[in-house]
Amino acid sequence: MSDFITAFAPASIGNVGVGFDMLGLALADAGDRVLARRSDGDRVTVAEVRGLDGELHPYLSTNAEENTASIAAQALWDQHGDGGGVELKVHKGVPLQSGMGSSAASAVAAAVATNALLEAPLEIDALLPFALEGEKYASGGMHPDNVAPSLLGGLIFCPEVLLPEVVRLPSPTGVSSVLLHPDLQVNTAQARRALPKSVSMDLWLQQQGLLAGFVYACASDDIDLVAKTLHDVIIEPHRKGNVACFDEVVTAANKAGALGCTLSGSGPSIFALCKDGDARNIASAMEQACRSQGIGCQSWVSSMNAPGAHIES
Ligand code: HSE
Repeated sequence: MSDFITAFAPASIGNVGVGFDMLGLALADAGDRVLARRSDGDRVTVAEVRGLDGELHPYLSTNAEENTASIAAQALWDQHGDGGGVELKVHKGVPLQSGMGSSAASAVAAAVATNALLEAPLEIDALLPFALEGEKYASGGMHPDNVAPSLLGGLIFCPEVLLPEVVRLPSPTGVSSVLLHPDLQVNTAQARRALPKSVSMDLWLQQQGLLAGFVYACASDDIDLVAKTLHDVIIEPHRKGNVACFDEVVTAANKAGALGCTLSGSGPSIFALCKDGDARNIASAMEQACRSQGIGCQSWVSSMNAPGAHIES
């Protein structure tokens, strides 16, 4: 019998369009698994990283100082461990550089699995700062909009200014997310460096209004207001050029009845929010539009209440 504990952490939609670095949404089904067990030594080590195909990962490092999973686990172990060692196995289910919170999912799954090895495991919310250490290494920023929904599930409002406090927002009733992952890659750290350092007062006012309206729309179950406010006037214009099929996919999603459609995190993934009953049609319209541009893709449909990270075995 294996003495490993296995944790699953879901992929996530960073920014959710309106809330750059401060709003995140968990996805269902897609996610990473991290297996953890006690080991000799006094550090967290990574025994293996496997890719989506089950084979040893060609790019991700087993060097514990270069892997978001071990960095998160070590941060937790340094503060709460008993001085022994921990061995991790990382099984990626989220494609790299996909805009689906891949590095965050590994960091969160590692924190959750390692937490289960502690004599007195912490409450799940208390793992956020440790998982964030892994994310900081990967993307060069302290943005929690992938880590927080991956850890806690659902829709999370998590501006840095409030950390470590985050706010779980109610999800509007009967609304799903559709996420399309085109077979492209965008490096988040690079995409962040390419953003302008300042924005005009006019744009800031528009985005502030949209974000406040969107949060209120979710809290008050107002689907029309969700549709009116799901727009990104600041970041999307700078990033959509990295995703060759962006305009076609967004047009197809809107034509099929999406409430709104924009980039997931730094892209290349594109997500739509929509009424539950429209989700399958919208997913196939988005896939078709993407393939018509000669780009392969995969899509996921999720409830807006998708569960967060948990121990599987
Ligand atoms: N908020 C981050 C960004 C998310 O947009 O750069 C990255 O997935």
